[in-house]
Amino acid sequence: MMIKSVREIEFNFKGEDTSYLTHSLHPYPAKFPPQLPKRILERYAVKEQTVLDPFCGSGTTLIEARIFGVNAIGVDVNGLSTLLSKVKATPLSQKQFNTIEIFVSKIENEVFKWKFSNRPKIKVKEIEGLDHWFQNNVSEEITFLLNEINLIKNNDIRDFLKIVLSSIIVRVSNQDSDTRFAAIDKNIQNGYTLEQFCKKANEYNSRIMEYSKLINDKTELQIFNADSRNLDFIPDNSIDLIITSPPYANSYDYYLYHKFRKLWLDLDVKFAQNNEIGSRREYSSLKENPEKWNNDLIKCFIEMQRVLKPNHLAFIVIGDSVIKKELIKIEKEISDFAPSTGFRVNEILSSDLSNHSKIFNPTFAQKGKKEHLIILQKQ
Ligand SMILES: C[S@@+](CC[C@H](N)C(=O)[O-])C[C@H]1O[C@@H](n2cnc3c(N)ncnc32)[C@H](O)[C@@H]1O
Repeated sequence: MMIKSVREIEFNFKGEDTSYLTHSLHPYPAKFPPQLPKRILERYAVKEQTVLDPFCGSGTTLIEARIFGVNAIGVDVNGLSTLLSKVKATPLSQKQFNTIEIFVSKIENEVFKWKFSNRPKIKVKEIEGLDHWFQNNVSEEITFLLNEINLIKNNDIRDFLKIVLSSIIVRVSNQDSDTRFAAIDKNIQNGYTLEQFCKKANEYNSRIMEYSKLINDKTELQIFNADSRNLDFIPDNSIDLIITSPPYANSYDYYLYHKFRKLWLDLDVKFAQNNEIGSRREYSSLKENPEKWNNDLIKCFIEMQRVLKPNHLAFIVIGDSVIKKELIKIEKEISDFAPSTGFRVNEILSSDLSNHSKIFNPTFAQKGKKEHLIILQKQ
């Protein structure tokens, strides 16, 4: 099989809009720019094939796959990611948009009475540590929204509204920002949480409406909340193309980043905490050795290789890391272990993170670390 070189694709996304359609719904750390999967799909995919992202995060690959016209399978260990990916990549019908509009108008009509001291009384959902991270008036309004959302029968609409609520949780909490876990006094006024919810719901509704017009009903979306070291729910030789970005070791704790969102939405926290690979918790707190990182990646590569069709390609975006003060040059590690997993390394494109403002992700711009696009071919 003749493979076209990826080097002819332009991968510098500086100045490009990365927030079009549903890509901007909800904060998520270390997303790759949508143009990355888009350009790979345009060059290497054929309509109605099946594309897999085993670390689907906020669903960037899945959205682009559906717009391009291929079936999309996403896997992530984090329950918030899989819910978010589902909402961002699922088109809705006109009837569903109307139901959302009616729901939002109902909440808008409630705001006035929640603004004053004789607000309705409500028993706040019980969550450990809530008083430290949320003002009581905020917790009451979130509980009210959740109660209303849970009355909705249609799954897709309920999930959409949960994601709208989740997107404002950090803003209305005492947490300083999405990436800074310090409690500060924000003095959130009565009614503000409801107003923010309505504002986001209207914005997201119109974004999903635009996205929905582009989706061909014949393609399918499947999303699994699972650990990609074991993809036994995907048959051998069934995937045409993989486009993915595993964690960059010792850089993030995705499970922690979304902890309160998940507690409010009754999503499991422990599964992601115990099975997330490459987390800061593993390498900075539990002081695991770099070998653990290689072993986890090898398990994922063996599974990716198994599910790919023979000779087909996997595009992996991954960054170097520092573990126990040692710089891990990940393209070297992958080049060494890839053959033992049944992959050949076809090409590697690297960016010097200390020089580039934004090739893939600016937050890893530490001296000596590089980010790589590694193209593997199943042998
Ligand atoms: C770099 S992010 C992916 C971001 C994604 N490309 C996007 O644009 O949103 C890496 C993802 O890997 C997930 N992850 C970590 N360990 C995992 C595991 N064992 N199995 C599946 N997903 C995992 C994290 O939850 C996180 O969402």
